[in-house]
Amino acid sequence: MDLQKQNTILVTCGPGLAEYLEAELVDLGFNIESSHAGGVTIKGTGADVMMLNLRLRTAYNVLYLLNEFRCSDAKQLYKIVNTMPWEGMISPDEYLSVVSRVKTPAIDNSMFASMKVKDAIVDRISAKLGERPDSGSERDCLVYNLYWRGDRCWLYLNTSGLKLSDRSYRKMPYKAPLRESLAAGIVMATGYDGSVPFVNPMCGSGTLAIEAALIGAGRACGLLRSNFGFMHELGFDKEKWVEIRREASKLGGKDIKRIVATDISVDAIRCAQKNAMTAGVQHLIDFKVCDYSETPVPEEGGIVVFNPEYGMRLGDADKLEPLYEGMGDFMKQCCAGYMGYIFTGNMQLGKKVGLRAKRRLVFFNGDIECRLLTYELYSGSRE
Ligand SMILES: C[S@@+](CC[C@H](N)C(=O)[O-])C[C@H]1O[C@@H](n2cnc3c(N)ncnc32)[C@H](O)[C@@H]1O
Repeated sequence: MDLQKQNTILVTCGPGLAEYLEAELVDLGFNIESSHAGGVTIKGTGADVMMLNLRLRTAYNVLYLLNEFRCSDAKQLYKIVNTMPWEGMISPDEYLSVVSRVKTPAIDNSMFASMKVKDAIVDRISAKLGERPDSGSERDCLVYNLYWRGDRCWLYLNTSGLKLSDRSYRKMPYKAPLRESLAAGIVMATGYDGSVPFVNPMCGSGTLAIEAALIGAGRACGLLRSNFGFMHELGFDKEKWVEIRREASKLGGKDIKRIVATDISVDAIRCAQKNAMTAGVQHLIDFKVCDYSETPVPEEGGIVVFNPEYGMRLGDADKLEPLYEGMGDFMKQCCAGYMGYIFTGNMQLGKKVGLRAKRRLVFFNGDIECRLLTYELYSGSRE
């Protein structure tokens, strides 16, 4: 990675999150070159890449373009990749993996494309240095991503390695936890900025409350991670990294209103507290074991977000109907002046809330299409 030269960077994300990722990148001062469901392209330096890995909340991976070329078959792919100066980028002591996305008549198997790229890299290093790096499917070292569409190929260094949604604070997951990047997208969709209370009944392992705390306080979310893909590259500039990390760790002193996180399960609250402590935000969140209907709601108005179960097994959904009706009643009776949100993968259950949703934003929780239902909970009469 060249720390100073501008280069193409593709930041990938989960479905439904590109809009929020774009907003983050614009906020950080980047111009958007292009955007699609799976990611956003910008221009930036290797130093920017390091910073983005520490600060992006809704991203999966930050990919740094190494080569873009035309290619008509697997043989040509090997040849082109084999001419790249890998011996200057990878030490034979390293471990690498290759991931491919292929949509071309030239080849119908992405694993075969990955194998060709991997062979081209290790053969080159072996020919130049007499030793070759190990390779396999682990993603915590050097990872290269190949995109092959028609006769065009893009080969990237995956500078994140493991997905950035793994922030390393969730030591205890409890039941059905949200992926951290999705939770951050949900919090961003509510417009939360720390200036009003954030209330999260049914908090489970605390992901929404923790992401809200990180967003509200303006804290860099990647500081807990000690391993990123770019660290494994030959010539990794440790000094620059320490400097960028130090800058990022100065962020996040912003005062925020209290965050309230409750759950009926003692174990869930234990997990959530532990996770919040690991994330360094436990002092910003009031945890309580209680039924959602007893959640203490600050009077001044704010944001209340539920992520209830939505019953993926047959018959489970019926049992959850009273819970959804109850959430509607709770918001109506106890959350006047708030914006209310329910994140659910079951729209039939969503209808049981009994309030008119102002918006229904689409997100994906894994493969499940979900909605973030938005309710305006007026206080008193409204003109
Ligand atoms: C889908 S999980 C929430 C996951 C959470 N967003 C996370 O990322 O970990 C739903 C949570 O609702 C809690 N719950 C179920 N019924 C409840 C009730 N009546 N009152 C409060 N919490 C309840 C469960 O204990 C569970 O932790």
